[in-house]
Amino acid sequence: MNIGQRIANRRKVLGLTQQRMAEALHVTFQAVSKWENGATIPDATLLVPIAKLLHTSVDALFGFHPAPATEYERRYQAEEYYWGIQPNSLCYEILQRRPPVQLYRVLDIGCGEGKDAVFLARNGYMVEAFDLAEAGLAKARNLAEHHQTHVDFFRADVLDFEPEGMYDIIFSSGVLHYLPPQKRAPVFERLKAHTAPHGLHVMNVFVEKPFIPPAPDTEPAETAHSPWRSGELFMLYHDWQLHKTEELIFPCQSGGVPHRHCMDIMIAEKMD
Ligand SMILES: C[S@@+](CC[C@H](N)C(=O)[O-])C[C@H]1O[C@@H](n2cnc3c(N)ncnc32)[C@H](O)[C@@H]1O
Repeated sequence: MNIGQRIANRRKVLGLTQQRMAEALHVTFQAVSKWENGATIPDATLLVPIAKLLHTSVDALFGFHPAPATEYERRYQAEEYYWGIQPNSLCYEILQRRPPVQLYRVLDIGCGEGKDAVFLARNGYMVEAFDLAEAGLAKARNLAEHHQTHVDFFRADVLDFEPEGMYDIIFSSGVLHYLPPQKRAPVFERLKAHTAPHGLHVMNVFVEKPFIPPAPDTEPAETAHSPWRSGELFMLYHDWQLHKTEELIFPCQSGGVPHRHCMDIMIAEKMD
């Protein structure tokens, strides 16, 4: 693939016409057309503006991908969305339990490529979302832009994230096994303290079961992770109202080897 084809691909993903791209760059649409069909390449002075317009980097336009920092960064380099773009079913439960008749402030912890955060923003929530992986955040921003909605995406580590103000809903899916067991209680105390009265925490965590063999290791090797004990998440919310406490065992084919996972799923409400 050459630079012109990469420009054309990114332009189409973002739903831009050649005309609109040309206007934004102060060139003719024939110039854009010539780049895309390989007749010419863009002037060097236009490379940064093109990369900015297409929400990518000059490196990526030339097909250069520096060595990724983490396995998630590597997974998220691909054009397609590693986790898909369909929201987690818990997002529909948020819609049912807190229909967006007022502006609820939502935090998505470990948002990956943003499918859940963008879904909630499209439905009228005011969403902030963070992840460790910059490549995931870049795709999440593109997804939000594609749907003409806004999410405040930022890079942070759940281990030392300091919330500011009060959230109405805190959501996290498939992430909290990256919190070492001894760090869980203080992190959850902080999140609970920064939740408004009647706010919801909507979360799932991987749990270990003696009768389920460990999954073939599909986790990024460089990331410390440890599954939760069954019920451990629910115990952290003994002082809130538990609307949903469910344990689910489900089959998985990741890595090409059939195996099973177990998850605890929780919706809890902070009472006065
Ligand atoms: C299994 S993916 C889930 C992504 C997303 N929640 C979803 O369901 O599509 C786990 C995510 O957690 C992120 N992550 C891992 N450790 C983290 C940490 N310490 N702080 C923030 N995010 C982290 C990874 O980068 C990855 O995007």
